[in-house]
Parts: sequence; structure tokens; C-alpha cells
Amino acid sequence: MDYTTLGRTGLKVSVAGLGCGGFSRLGLGAGGSEADAIAIIRQAIDLGVNLFDTAAAYGTESVLGKAVKGVPLDQVVVCTKAPFSWSSGRADPQGIVASLDKSLRELDLDHVDVYQLHGIPPAHYDHALEALAPVLLREKEKGKFRFLGITETAPNDLDHTTLHRAAEDKVWSVVMVGFSMLHQNARDRVFPRTRAHGVGTLLMFAVRQIFSQPGRLAETLRALAEDGRLPADLGDDPLGFLVHPGGASSVIDAAYRYVRHEPGVDVVLFGTGSPEHLRTNIASLLKPPLPEADRRRVGELFGHLVGVGLDAPHLTRAGNVR
Ligand SMILES: NC(=O)c1ccc[n+]([C@@H]2O[C@H](COP(=O)([O-])OP(=O)(O)OC[C@H]3O[C@@H](n4cnc5c(N)ncnc54)[C@H](OP(=O)(O)O)[C@@H]3O)[C@@H](O)[C@H]2O)c1
Repeated sequence: MDYTTLGRTGLKVSVAGLGCGGFSRLGLGAGGSEADAIAIIRQAIDLGVNLFDTAAAYGTESVLGKAVKGVPLDQVVVCTKAPFSWSSGRADPQGIVASLDKSLRELDLDHVDVYQLHGIPPAHYDHALEALAPVLLREKEKGKFRFLGITETAPNDLDHTTLHRAAEDKVWSVVMVGFSMLHQNARDRVFPRTRAHGVGTLLMFAVRQIFSQPGRLAETLRALAEDGRLPADLGDDPLGFLVHPGGASSVIDAAYRYVRHEPGVDVVLFGTGSPEHLRTNIASLLKPPLPEADRRRVGELFGHLVGVGLDAPHLTRAGNVR
């Protein structure tokens, strides 16, 4: 495993981070058992992963808590998130503190490393900054978490308005941002600011469904070509040029390597319930950058696209973003 520093938190983190949410939810989303989900986390630890991201909305906090039981706390970086209520459009500060306490009980920990506000839409950023952050910082002083973070709602904030602001607002030490071969605008909108202010970055949406579901990529790119947003002559395998000796071993290998080496990216999160995907994704993230000519072509072909492949988030019954 390679390790890096998570911005000004100073935390030493693995460049590959295991996401315990997304469509997979450690395999629970596809009907996997809790024992298998715990085994995935333990396998990740054995392979050197030390950063794990969960959330109140994912239903995986207790699984993560069980999996890290007995692991010395200075060897894992646990990140979880406060729910943001989409149904009411606003999250109540007292409700968020109660959720933090519940998360600690679920995780069976007395503190977490990073506590994040989950999926804050631009329209509610002022509320997050002025009403929620001060209340949470008081809980931080009590020792319930070490660093405050914020995550964007990528499908509903295509130009990263929330993080564009958050990177400069000092209270957030860590942000979670969507970036992929088909949604590259964090390069201009977010990373220059997070780098300038020492904000740690956790990356999401590198693969999601567009790269992992058979047929989704070709179908989406065909529709974009029909709309005139991509050249008409890209053919049936528009990303096939990335796979060659000396290049990527698969399009998914390319997708993870592309984001991993972007300046400003600290940790690439990936979600999986598959031991094989866990192994190959870590292997991809530890490989060198894609050949420069391939990287350049991805920029030339797809750099203008915005919001492609950002599957809408799940909503829990309570209306929280997952
Ligand atoms: N707003 C937010 O705060 C927010 C939003 C989204 C995500 N996140 C965080 O970011 C994490 C990562 O997001 P993500 O889960 O969407 O990750 P991702 O790595 O972009 O996509 C993972 C999806 O692709 C599949 N997959 C993974 N590796 C594969 C491989 N090698 N070959 C084929 N399929 C593969 C997974 O299913 P399998 O089980 O089949 O591997 C899963 O469905 C989440 O777990 C969560 O912690 C946060």
C-alpha cells in the first residue's frame, strides 16, 4: 500500500480507501451477509487499507465497528457522516448531535477521526456553515471526533458549488468530491482550492455504475454522441484505446488509475462486496499513472463533459442521501 497525508489533518492514510456505502454497501446492497461484509473490511486491512468511510445513512456503521474491533485505533482512520434530511430540506443541529452519538454507539467507538456533513446541496451550504458546523465543533471539543468534513451531493451539484466554497471556509478539514474520466471539472473547481488551503480530499464516483454495469458505458456514450456532445465516430468501444500492453488492463483499471494520480487527490474511495474487486482495485490504485498520451486523450475527448455517470443517490426511507 502507498500512504499519503490527508491535507492539514496530518493523518497518514492509505491512497485506497474502502467506501462502506454506494450501491454495494460492502455487498449488503446485493444481498450479502454481515459476515461477508466484515470479511471484506478485514481483507482490506490485511492489504494495507487504513481509511474506511461509512455514514449513518448506509446501515454499515455497526459492521465497520465489528470489523475493526481489536485493531489498534491508531491503525485505522474511521470516517462517518451526519444525515442531511432531504425531506425537510434542512438538518436540525440537535438532530445531528443525536445522530453523532448514535453513530458512535453503532461503531462502538468513543470517537471517530473524520465526521462529515453528508451530501450538502449548495442551497443549504449557508445553513451547514452557520448553524450546523458551530454545534458540531463543540462536540469535537468534547472529543467525539477529530476533524470536521463535508461531502457534496455530486448529482445535484454538478459544478461543485458546495465544495468550491467549503475549501476556503476553514472549518472543514476534509471534503469528499466526485471526479471521474467522465466528470472532470473538480480539476478546476475544487482541487486548486483544496490544495491551496491544505484541505484533505476523499474521492468518490470513480467507477460507480457507468463503468461497472455491463453496457451502461457504451449506451451512455452513444446517447451523448447522438446529442452532439461527443464526436459521432467514436465507435462501439470509445474507451477501448486505453487498454493495451503498457496501458490499462481494463477500462475499470483505467478509471481508478486516472483519478488516483490527479494532483489534489489524497484518497480514492471505492465500494465493493467482492474480494476479487477489492484485490484488483487496490492493485490498480498502486499502479503508475496511465501513459501520458492516453491521459491526454481522455482529457481531449471527455474533459468538457459534466455530470456523466453520476448515478442519483439512494434515498433512505427517512429521505436521507445515501
Ligand atoms: N455524497 C456522499 O457522501 C457519497 C456519495 C457516493 C459515494 N460516497 C462514498 O464513496 C464510496 C465509493 O463510492 P462508490 O461505492 O460509488 O464507489 P465506486 O468505486 O465508484 O463504484 C463501486 C461500484 O462498482 C462495483 N465495482 C467495484 N470494483 C469493481 C470492479 N473491479 N469491477 C467491476 N465492478 C466493480 C461495485 O460493486 P461490487 O460490489 O460488485 O464490487 C460498486 O457497485 C462509497 O462507498 C461511499 O463511502 C459518498
